[in-house]
Amino acid sequence: MTGDHDELVVVLDFGAQYAQLIARRIRECRVYSEIVPCDRSAADILALRPAGIVLSGGPASVYAEGSPRCDPALWHAGIPMLGICYGMQLMAKELGGEVAPTQIREYGRTELRVESDADLLRGLGDSITAWMSHGDAVLRPPAGFHVAARTSQTAVGAATAVGAPTIAAIADPARRLFGVQFHPEVVHTPRGMDIFRNFLYQQCGCHGRWTPASIIEESCRAIREQAGESRVLCGLSGGVDSSVLAALGYRAIGDRLVCVFVDHGLLRAGEGEQVRETFTRHFPVDLHYVEAQERFLTALAGVTDPEQKRIIIGREFIAVFEEEARKHGDIRLLAQGTLYPDVIESGTGSAAVIKSHHNVGGLPEKMGMKLVEPLRNLFKDEVRAVGHELGLPDEIVWRQPFPGPGLAVRILGEITRERLETSRQVDKIIIDEITRAGLYRKLFQAFGVLAPIRSVGVMGDQRTYGETAIVRAVAGDDAMTADWADLPHEVLAAIANRIVNEVAGITRVVYDITSKPPATIEWE
Ligand code: XMP
Repeated sequence: MTGDHDELVVVLDFGAQYAQLIARRIRECRVYSEIVPCDRSAADILALRPAGIVLSGGPASVYAEGSPRCDPALWHAGIPMLGICYGMQLMAKELGGEVAPTQIREYGRTELRVESDADLLRGLGDSITAWMSHGDAVLRPPAGFHVAARTSQTAVGAATAVGAPTIAAIADPARRLFGVQFHPEVVHTPRGMDIFRNFLYQQCGCHGRWTPASIIEESCRAIREQAGESRVLCGLSGGVDSSVLAALGYRAIGDRLVCVFVDHGLLRAGEGEQVRETFTRHFPVDLHYVEAQERFLTALAGVTDPEQKRIIIGREFIAVFEEEARKHGDIRLLAQGTLYPDVIESGTGSAAVIKSHHNVGGLPEKMGMKLVEPLRNLFKDEVRAVGHELGLPDEIVWRQPFPGPGLAVRILGEITRERLETSRQVDKIIIDEITRAGLYRKLFQAFGVLAPIRSVGVMGDQRTYGETAIVRAVAGDDAMTADWADLPHEVLAAIANRIVNEVAGITRVVYDITSKPPATIEWE
C-alpha cells in the first residue's frame, strides 16, 4: 500500500459497486483515495494516517446476520467520517441510533429538503436533487447527531417516497461524523461533488494537492527507490499504459530503463513506426526494437485454436524477453503497467496481480523477475492525465486498448501473412471512419475481426467468393462490461462500403451486436 501521500482518504468497501466511483470522485477533488476492505483492522487503517474515511454503500441490511461491519474502534478515532447509504445506516446503528426497513423502498431521483446547511451541505441551498437506492432507513439518529436533510414530501421522478419524509442526511459536527442516505457519487446527484468538497476540504482539512504533477513526482521517487542502481526492463507496446510507464521510468532513471518493443508481426498498420517515432522524438529512451515477426509467425503457422495461439505467443514473448534481459546484463526488475482496478479485483490490495491474458503470459513469474508497478494506484483516466502531463502525444494518450497477442486474436482461424494484411486494411478503414465521425474517443474499442466464413459476392460482372469482416465497436468505461455501440447507420454504411470495395478478399461485412457479458470484447 501507499503511505507516501500527504493527504489520503480511505474508502471502506462494504460491497457496493459504488466504492470505485466514490474513490474516483474523491480523486477528482485532487485528494488521493484508496479502497480498503471493510473488515481491515482499525490499527491497519489508522497506520495509513487517513485524513478522512468514507463508508461506501452495500447490498446488505445492517440487521442481517453476518452483515459487514467495520472495526468499532474507528468510530472513536477522531477521524472525520462520511457514511453513504449502508455506511450511514451502519454509523447510525453502531452509535446508538435506530435503523429499520422502510415500507416502501426509495429508488431513483428524489428531492431533498435541507434542514441544516452548516457543514456537509453548506452552500447547497434549501433543496437538492439526489439519487436514492435503499430499503432500510435511519428512523432516529444517534445522540449528538442532528438531521441535516429529509426527503421532501413532494418527491418527484422515479422516487416512491410517500408518507412521512425519511431522514436523508445526518451530522455530528463536533465529532465530524456525517451520513447521507443518498449517493453523492453518481451523476444523478448533481451537487454530489459539492458534498465531497465540503467533507474533504472543510471537515478533513484536505488541500487537494494530488495532481498529475504530484503523481509523477511521487512515482518517480518510488521507481528510483525500488530500482536503486539497477536497470529495469520495460516492455513497450505503444498502448497508453506501457507508454506512460516508459515515460515515467525514463524520467525517473533515464537510460537505466531498458525498453523493449517486440514486433511480433501481429501489429496494426504503421504501429511499430509510430511507437519508434514517438519515443525517439519525445523520450530518447534506450529503446530496443526487436524484429520477431518471423519467429512468431513460424510458431503460429497452422494453429487455429485461440488458447493455443495465446500460449504460443506468451511463450515466444518470454523467450524474447529472456534474451533481451540477458543481452543487457541480466536485468532482474521488470516494469509492468498494472492499474488500480486490477489491484482492487485481486481483493488483497497488495499482491501483484498477473492476469495471464493481460500481460505477456506470466512473464515475471517464469523469469523470476521482481515487478516495478508505478501505475498500480491509478485508474485509467488518471494514467491518461499523467501521460498528458508527461508530454505524450494525444494519439498515444487516447489510444484504445489493443490486446497483447495483437491481431492473432482478431483473425479467426489460421494466421497467414495474407490474412494479416487483410486484417490491417480492414482495421484501418474502421478506425479512419470512426475517427472521421468524431467517435474514436467515445468508444472503448472499435476494430475488425476477420472470419473464415466464405460467401459469394458479385463485383462488376464477376462472381467473387471471399471472407467476412466483422465490425466490433463497444462503449463502456472499463473492460469488465461493455455495450455494443449503436453506431450511426451512415458510419456503418461507410465502413462496409469501403471494406468491400477496397479490401481484396472480403465479400461481406457484418456488425457484432453482442454486449459483454455474455460475450467478451475480443472474439478469441
Ligand atoms: P475481453 O475480450 O476479455 O477483453 O472482453 C477485455 C479487454 O482486454 C483486452 N484483451 C487483452 N489485453 N492481452 C492484453 O493485453 C490479452 O491477451 C488480451 N485479451 C483481451 C481486450 O482488447 C479488451 O480491452
